[in-house]
Amino acid sequence: MNLKIKKIISKKNKTKIVCLTAYSKNFAEEIDRFADIVLVGDSLGSVLYNFSTTRKVTLADMIKHSKSVRQGVKKSLMVVDMPFNTYTTSSLALKNARKIIKETKCDAVKLEGGKKIIKQINYLIKNKISVMGHLGVLPQSIKGKFKSVGKNEKEKKQLIDDARLLEKNGVFGIVLECIKSPIAKIITSKINIPTIGIGSSVHCDGQVLVTDDLIGLNNTNIRFVKKFVNIKKFINKGLKKFKYEVKHKKYPSKKYSY
Ligand code: KIV
Repeated sequence: MNLKIKKIISKKNKTKIVCLTAYSKNFAEEIDRFADIVLVGDSLGSVLYNFSTTRKVTLADMIKHSKSVRQGVKKSLMVVDMPFNTYTTSSLALKNARKIIKETKCDAVKLEGGKKIIKQINYLIKNKISVMGHLGVLPQSIKGKFKSVGKNEKEKKQLIDDARLLEKNGVFGIVLECIKSPIAKIITSKINIPTIGIGSSVHCDGQVLVTDDLIGLNNTNIRFVKKFVNIKKFINKGLKKFKYEVKHKKYPSKKYSY
């Protein structure tokens, strides 16, 4: 097993794990200083391309952005989302996961789902591909609005069974998306691999957010998104200065001219 993955697993019950998304080199360079895991999420579809669903993201999109991110990530574990329809069978999953890893040099891939895709996950792991799981709200499967999961006994049992199944088959960590707090807490206590929450309470072993959301670059009003900084204020300040200096022929001065 990859040393970086061992290190992530060893953090369980010791220290919280920080996971953040990145879609390009310059962002990745900054994020790498603070994150344990850098995720090239297929959320890039909605964040960068304004797609209505992550289903429109292609393998080529993921590879292109991941190659850029790879240039910026030096120390963190780099995980890449396998996009919709790229892991419908075991052989397709392996072919595409190998392509992603070969072309992007990432450490692991993430797939959405539990029992329904366990054959594919098992096959990838048997073929030495490191896999991160993703349970709860599965953006590649939902139609319509995000709703929390784990509201009734049936959903609760399904989530716990899925988490155990993923662990048994060798995933090294599981993203828990929009799962009710008590259920996220139970799942986290019942498995020996880390859970990384997104809208799933403080009980998870770590947290992930879309970086563009938490810095206020992407406009969203999803309940679990806290804006930790309003980056637009800083961007606007710089752009305003540039505009002023261009209009008043202050830029480029001699110093900035050949
Ligand atoms: O696509 C993504 O960015 C994700 C995270 C938000 C967990 O899957």
